Amino acid sequence: MTLRLIPTRPFADQRPGTSGLRKKVAIFQQPHYLENFVQSVFDVQPWLAGGLLVVGGDGRYYNQTAIQIILRMAAAHGVSRVLVGQHGILSTPAVSCLIRKHGAAGGLILSASHNPGGPEGDFGIKFNIDNGGPAPEKVTEAIYTRTKTIDVYRILESTEVDLGTLGGSVLGNMAVEVIDPVADYAALMGSLFDFEAISRLMQDGTFRMCFDAMHAVTGPYARAIFEDQLGAPAGTVINGVPLQDFGGGHPDPNLAHAVELANRMNGPDAPHFGAASDGDGDRNLILGQRFFVNPSDSLALIAANAHVVPGYRTGVVGIARSMPTSAAADRVAAHLGLPCYETPTGWKFFGTLMDAGKVTFCGEESFGTGSSHVREKDGLWAVLFWLNLLAHHPNRSVEEMVFHHWRRFGRNFHSRHDYEGLDSDAANVLMAHLQGSLRHLPGQSYGARRIRHCDDFSYSDPVDGSVSLGGGIRIIFDDDSRIIYRLSGTGTEGATLRIYLECYEADPTRHAQDPQQALAPFIQIAESVADIRARTGRHRPDVVV
Ligand code: G1P
Ligand code: ZN
Repeated sequence: MTLRLIPTRPFADQRPGTSGLRKKVAIFQQPHYLENFVQSVFDVQPWLAGGLLVVGGDGRYYNQTAIQIILRMAAAHGVSRVLVGQHGILSTPAVSCLIRKHGAAGGLILSASHNPGGPEGDFGIKFNIDNGGPAPEKVTEAIYTRTKTIDVYRILESTEVDLGTLGGSVLGNMAVEVIDPVADYAALMGSLFDFEAISRLMQDGTFRMCFDAMHAVTGPYARAIFEDQLGAPAGTVINGVPLQDFGGGHPDPNLAHAVELANRMNGPDAPHFGAASDGDGDRNLILGQRFFVNPSDSLALIAANAHVVPGYRTGVVGIARSMPTSAAADRVAAHLGLPCYETPTGWKFFGTLMDAGKVTFCGEESFGTGSSHVREKDGLWAVLFWLNLLAHHPNRSVEEMVFHHWRRFGRNFHSRHDYEGLDSDAANVLMAHLQGSLRHLPGQSYGARRIRHCDDFSYSDPVDGSVSLGGGIRIIFDDDSRIIYRLSGTGTEGATLRIYLECYEADPTRHAQDPQQALAPFIQIAESVADIRARTGRHRPDVVV
């Protein structure tokens, strides 16, 4: 086998976004594009040489091609051993679990998360560090800086590694182990949750559940855990075979995209519990019969009830949520006497807090929930947490659990309005205009509502002191209601403007209101402050969550 040094030239567009580098497949297929990025990772992480690397992805188109390239480059870099999921499959939380369990120096995840796949769809690559979590900003920026000057990459000339067969082989001096993608992850879940109680619930003859894997990575995990281990009837998992194009769907677990699940849960004979996960298995959607659980509420409810789950009976130290996530979790933290941290958008900001033992539960409004058991958000973990809670309260429906929670803590109405595929220049001008308004907005009143504070969210990490700027424009009212504007950092076409809206309601007689109604005054203020119609030509958002 020959080591080749391949001359290359930089690509200008390799700055990782909120969660790794994401582009259209065709962009990744350009000669040297993937190789440049991977070599840049190796160049800024020289200690991967001699170490263990975990590699896997969500099964989307180009996954296996990319893995073959990465394996040959890893061998050329001097990586001593690689764990790779069979058929190239590993969910994002499973990669995090494997890095931690096996003491790996890092991992490469091939995924564009919930973005569509297939030759016309998206692809992505993300580097995780040795704590199992996404590389922090200083590392992603160093990678980006390296991509701007790279002029050579190293790759071993060799035949392809057989990713279909479990077991070990060698590539140059590097050991390659093709592993069962599920085993270590399922064992971790078994150590956290009361599998006996959940099994009894699953098999009691009355409880029914539906899990929609959306033809993405969680199919094999969900079947192994829910059906084989916990004894749920065959067919509990739908769309359980990972497909390269996710069956043509958009593997984002929300009511708009998890259509089959949504229809079942809204039907006359709906199961008691419905759930779904996204392309790479880190997001989750939780549903009851004709009932949607807002992800911000899910985080709060999980934290408030953690004492009934074996892995969290003791030792819960704190909660963290991303800034646009509702403050429902803050109320639980205050009640439990725990600290609550507010971080910028993206899971990478939770890592230092978890490593320092400051937080146990973390969550984002974007259907992300997790804990310090790994360093990624974890879709199946959230589903198992809910199952554990339902097993503990066998006579309470999902809806009753949520209303019960609101009666204790009050309800934080929360919604996100997305304007997708905007002209990037128009979106930047809109944000610049908001920046310019920050100084004169405080003190202004809209009807009975007065703006108390406005800023562009900045965050100083309490553990390592690193500062992150530009987290989103916040407009905060006297009663803590909020409007937040930010541009997405994960899209691959034009710009997506996200507007987050939140207000609090203590009165239980108002808890059943539709969030869009409860938030209607803020929706109007958000439109008029940013002048969305005039600046984008759009009359309504594309997505309302
Ligand atoms: C979105 C979500 C964010 C999440 C990220 C990765 O990022 O808003 O909470 O961490 O996807 O799943 P955005 O597109 O808003 O930058
Ligand atoms: Zn994801």
